[in-house]
Amino acid sequence: MLKRRRILVVGNWKMNPATLARAEKLFVDVEKTIKNKTLRVDMAIAPPLLYVGALSELSGPQKIEFVAQDVSTHESGAHTGEISAAMLRSHGIKCAIVGHSEMRAAGESDESINKKLHALLAVKSVAILCVGESERDGNGNYFGVVEDQLRSAFLDIKMDDVKRMVIAYEPVWAIGTGVNARPEDVEEMRLFINKVLTDLYDRATAEAIRVLYGGSVTPDNAAELLKQGAIDGFLVGGASLEAKKFVEIVKISDQYAKLA
Ligand code: 13P
Repeated sequence: MLKRRRILVVGNWKMNPATLARAEKLFVDVEKTIKNKTLRVDMAIAPPLLYVGALSELSGPQKIEFVAQDVSTHESGAHTGEISAAMLRSHGIKCAIVGHSEMRAAGESDESINKKLHALLAVKSVAILCVGESERDGNGNYFGVVEDQLRSAFLDIKMDDVKRMVIAYEPVWAIGTGVNARPEDVEEMRLFINKVLTDLYDRATAEAIRVLYGGSVTPDNAAELLKQGAIDGFLVGGASLEAKKFVEIVKISDQYAKLA
């Protein structure tokens, strides 16, 4: 039986909404429904970085953390278009999504993912490291895929640092398809991730790391995934663009945290 960690629900807005006005409306709609609630879960949003300044002005007493969708491997210099971990931190952003399958599909390498984790740790920030297979075959090859992703991402990352990381298991075939992974398969992968981390570090370290699930999470499947999936929260894509659905997923997670 895995130890319970504090649940984290993150909304990955990707390259949405199309305008700042719509982003502000979405943010305010999320904010107002949770404003006066004491949540037992952590909650964060990864909007397009350009919107963060304006959105943080609208932030109410229930502080929603902002997460970056990416970070540069570099510290500074001639790297047009890139944003460093230190720059993010100077804007209060202490966490970035790294290794999202959409970035991997666009050519992001294991080496670059590892460098990004080191870049974040160098300024005491953390990553939500995304791992996940592109397809599920009958031979269980997806375990090997996830193991390789974990081993290469955590190369030369110290035990004390890795404890602060978050892993998001996002099977590529479940992202944006409306077909979520089965809770029992999520549980199996969660246990496998724990085994790989125990092998790489030790049991206590493995138990300290939160593992989220992402891939077609909705209010309809969130409870089941939490209950059977043995995960510590969600990385939500599409449903985080609808305030009502995202808040519902947060509420379901909060309810679960209360019972657990
Ligand atoms: P969906 O929730 O739209 O499947 O996206 C998941 C995801 O990619 C979050 O990072």
